Amino acid sequence: MNLFIIKFQVKCGGCVGQQTLKDIFGVYIQNLNPIFHEKNTLTDRHIPLIIEHREEQINTLAKILAPAIRDQKISNTFIFGNVGTGKTLVTKHVTAELAKNNPKINILYVNCKMRGVSDTEYRLLAELLGKLGKEVPSTGLPTTQLYKNFYTLLEETEKLNILILDEIDVIVKKIGDEILYNLTRINQDLKKSTLSLIGISNDVSFTEQLDPRVKSSLSEEELIFPPYNAMQLQNILTKRAETAFTLNTLSVGVIAKCAALAAQEHGDARKALDLLRIAGEIAERENSKQIIISHVDCAEEKLDSDRTVEAVRTQPKQSLAVLASIILLSEEGKEDIQTGDVFEIYQKICANRGLKILTQRRVSDLIGALDMVGIINTHVISKGRYGRTREIRILLSQPILKKIRTILEDNYLFDGLGRYSKKKEGH
Ligand SMILES: Nc1ncnc2c1ncn2[C@@H]1O[C@H](COP(=O)(O)OP(=O)(O)OP(=O)(O)O)[C@@H](O)[C@H]1O
Ligand SMILES: [Mg+2]
Repeated sequence: MNLFIIKFQVKCGGCVGQQTLKDIFGVYIQNLNPIFHEKNTLTDRHIPLIIEHREEQINTLAKILAPAIRDQKISNTFIFGNVGTGKTLVTKHVTAELAKNNPKINILYVNCKMRGVSDTEYRLLAELLGKLGKEVPSTGLPTTQLYKNFYTLLEETEKLNILILDEIDVIVKKIGDEILYNLTRINQDLKKSTLSLIGISNDVSFTEQLDPRVKSSLSEEELIFPPYNAMQLQNILTKRAETAFTLNTLSVGVIAKCAALAAQEHGDARKALDLLRIAGEIAERENSKQIIISHVDCAEEKLDSDRTVEAVRTQPKQSLAVLASIILLSEEGKEDIQTGDVFEIYQKICANRGLKILTQRRVSDLIGALDMVGIINTHVISKGRYGRTREIRILLSQPILKKIRTILEDNYLFDGLGRYSKKKEGH
């Protein structure tokens, strides 16, 4: 079969065109209008040479860590700030520079969010031991043994170890804070070495869940990373765009738009970089010579869609059953959906699907949680002397809804419910 004669449509926002595979691949083969020079520059993998708008945080962290240059123990430090505010970038940069000044400084970096790393106390200890060069079996040893090994190895290093626990809140959510307590205790027992902790988190409320002893020993020093404003994001993007794109690729206003959109949300540099990169990819796919504002609009739509769909995919079954109920009600054209309506359908879904039926109160909590992650919208309305009630709406675009429906169908949540039923193949 000649692949090149297959025709299909490529869609992006308003632009629809008919292209053959030959057209599409041809553009890349000939590299006619290269948009990107070094796309990597717009990803987390790239380490920028200059870190703008973080002078204060860089200097404060440097002052906290500097005593290590003279072999002195340094304070445990907590770093907070919204997503994409440069916490990881700055911490890695400052610690790497610090280590150049004293061979006794040993930096251990663990991203606790990485798959499997902090699922259990055992896994995390195994990861830490791995960082010190000792591989341990993935299960089987008593955790006390792992702690002992960790202590012995640290002591043998005779070094000033700085352990960076990035996304430290994941540890506490998954396995509790005891391991953090134990790590601070190990440090007190060490004689020839030291172990200082740098905890990084974008969940500001998480220290409230900590045992007060753990909290105080971990946050001897605290550092806040504020969100970037639109101007700061523009500067950051402009620098990175210099190497990311070929000359004259960016049309006027593209960087400003990416910066403004990211500033509106969390002041998130990652989102700004993602918008710019995706806008570039869309322009490239369209074989456009330049990235224009409408490409940024498309990029934003795609990012939103990816995020919402991902949020749905990671919801527990019970929340998915609640969401399926809301979608069914809105598909039926019901306008003022209330918790009671959702609960009615939810019970049917659970019965069909063999799920435990939670109380209406719990279902109401799950509705609140779905609202929090932006999958649905709710607002409380007053009914005068009849009290208050919550109205639930789904304000998602059709393409996103379609993807969400597929996830719910794949979980067999519409089974037995009219036109949404899906055959349980091998289920
Ligand atoms: N001041 C800056 N200059 C250049 N690039 C930056 C700056 N701040 C952040 N970035 C870039 O933005 C992205 C996100 O930064 P980083 O990973 O450090 O954020 P974070 O605060 O650790 O976010 P999260 O809480 O999601 O882990 C990275 O690609 C990083 O290189
Ligand atoms: Mg980070």
